[in-house]
Amino acid sequence: MTRVFSGIKPTGHLTLGNYLGAMRQWAAVDQHRADALFCVVDLHALTVHHDPARVRRLSRQAATLLLASGLDPALCTVFVQSHVDEHARLSYLLECVATDGEMRRMIQYREKAAREQRRGGSVRLSLLTYPVLMAADILAYGTDEVPVGHDQTQHVELARDLAVRFNQRYGHTFVVPRATNPSVAARVMNLQEPLSKMGKSDDTGPGIVHLLDEPDVTRRKVMRAVTDSGRDVVYDRDSRPGVANLLEILAACSGGSPEALAGVYESYGDLKRDTAEAVVEVLGPVRERHKELCADPGYVEGVLRDGAERARGTARPTVDAAYRAIGLLPAG
Ligand code: TYM
Repeated sequence: MTRVFSGIKPTGHLTLGNYLGAMRQWAAVDQHRADALFCVVDLHALTVHHDPARVRRLSRQAATLLLASGLDPALCTVFVQSHVDEHARLSYLLECVATDGEMRRMIQYREKAAREQRRGGSVRLSLLTYPVLMAADILAYGTDEVPVGHDQTQHVELARDLAVRFNQRYGHTFVVPRATNPSVAARVMNLQEPLSKMGKSDDTGPGIVHLLDEPDVTRRKVMRAVTDSGRDVVYDRDSRPGVANLLEILAACSGGSPEALAGVYESYGDLKRDTAEAVVEVLGPVRERHKELCADPGYVEGVLRDGAERARGTARPTVDAAYRAIGLLPAG
């Protein structure tokens, strides 16, 4: 059976981008067709300036939202990265396979390091090695497919490269994974700055729809989205990025293709109104289920405990094999 692994980082409140670009496919498709694991990658949240209590809170919230979005522990494994030691164990071995130059070429490293420096902070070494830990997340599970938004493609490519290099040097140990992306909304843009990704770590701006926003807040954000000059509704990411973003969001929420939907609308106002309603409709059940789950924290804890145990059992043989292959003396 195909093995699927993906993760989400608790560095901010989850957004419509996370949902449409990743979580929705995990729940609607991946958990039904594959042996799938979904992980709240809390170790990754420590790579930039962080508040310990906030990371803990956001980790619990992210896990709850994964379940609220439809992940079913009877069908897939949901767990928290730091509960499974194999991630950190394997990450070190992969640091001995990756190179400094490879890390410095990563686009997200460059962007995030620049942002930390602009804020007057220093750049944590773990930010540089972030993609190696991510490769460890993926390779520890013998993953075939990694369903992610477009922004993670380069990181998954690195995981592939490290798997191939390790296998060539030390003998076949890892499955070589590949990224999969949703057909629409693989890159949802900020409603106020349609040339930038809708990112959860950014400040809570009017251009970011959070999964737990009240419906009226969501409506307001969509209605105030920046559109482009010109009046006619056409789908063109280059010349009309604001309108293209709305069409993609609407297509992802209501079905249909952005190109076809463009032909349906005569004004930006109508497009925004329908997009706002479609988003509110899609997020409604997630918010409802989240509320129910918050009333039963013991359930979520139990899911995470079982998930970690299952995940450990899956990862350990592969990580142990990597330890042997690379030349470490077994503990006996
Ligand atoms: P993260 O937490 O930034 O995002 C989680 C998932 O949401 C997708 N995503 C988006 N998709 C479309 N439009 C957007 N605006 C948008 N914003 C986020 C991301 O592509 C991702 O699929 N490094 C990863 C977490 C990670 C991981 C892994 C993922 C760590 N280890 C192993 C897969 C496998 C990250 O920061 O995702």
